[in-house]
Amino acid sequence: MNPVLELHNVKKNRHGSEGTPLFANVSAQIAEPAIVALLGVSGQGKSTLLRMIAALDNADEGHIRLHNVSRREMDARQWRMKVCYVAQQSVMLQGSIEQNLKTVSLLHRIPYEDKLVQHLLPRLGLAHLDLSKSADRLSGGEKQRISLLRSLLLHPAVLLLDEITASLDRGSKEMVEQVLQEWHHQEGTTIIMVTHDFEQARQMSKAVWFMGEGTLLENSETAAFFEHPSSELARQYIMQPPLQKEQPCPS
Ligand SMILES: Nc1ncnc2c1ncn2[C@@H]1O[C@H](COP(=O)(O)OP(=O)(O)OP(=O)(O)O)[C@@H](O)[C@H]1O
Ligand SMILES: [Mg+2]
Repeated sequence: MNPVLELHNVKKNRHGSEGTPLFANVSAQIAEPAIVALLGVSGQGKSTLLRMIAALDNADEGHIRLHNVSRREMDARQWRMKVCYVAQQSVMLQGSIEQNLKTVSLLHRIPYEDKLVQHLLPRLGLAHLDLSKSADRLSGGEKQRISLLRSLLLHPAVLLLDEITASLDRGSKEMVEQVLQEWHHQEGTTIIMVTHDFEQARQMSKAVWFMGEGTLLENSETAAFFEHPSSELARQYIMQPPLQKEQPCPS
């Protein structure tokens, strides 16, 4: 079977191409569907790397392949149907929540799965929403879950999640985690999730990609990463105290 995703020596120069690159020599492979946690201190380029995998930004060097097809060989729109990015700060389009959910099916000319929406809304803790209301009015945490749902409607092969539970209370976070784990098992979707929540990374992921020193410094099985990180940087990173939780959702 072809590997799901391959990164070969991916490089991103800093804005203006000055100084050392933001990151370089990023190589990794996901041989079969898995959940991977992408970790690293702030500013390492985790979001940038996800955006590159999603074809929303370009690599300055290197190759990204999906099921053995290079990003350069595939039309960007087709790639984005298979590889979906849920941003750190979700952006809603003007209009109702339902219109936002329907955008992907209109854009990609696929049927809108109302049944799936109705099934997932309560499981994401969003049963209370009136879909005819303006999407502008949603809280930050609600926007992130609607944005996740919008991506799930595409049934992507790879789902890239950028700190999507960071502004959620524990209960809502656990609901999202459960949906994601079930979705991964049922659909065989590969998930790469950026998180600063070690408990979440430990519990959900099979492997950890740790970014540091301008590259992908470690790529290990999750338990091995947390028990015996190979670099001093990763050791210091995982020694940090747990995140202070339950900040209010930005609206
Ligand atoms: N070409 C570039 N593309 C993207 N970011 C760049 C570039 N050049 C420099 N930067 C800077 O590098 C940093 C990369 O940010 P990015 O959002 O990818 O990091 P991150 O690891 O996701 O951080 P956080 O954990 O805070 O979300 C930012 O400070 C950005 O301004
Ligand atoms: Mg980021």
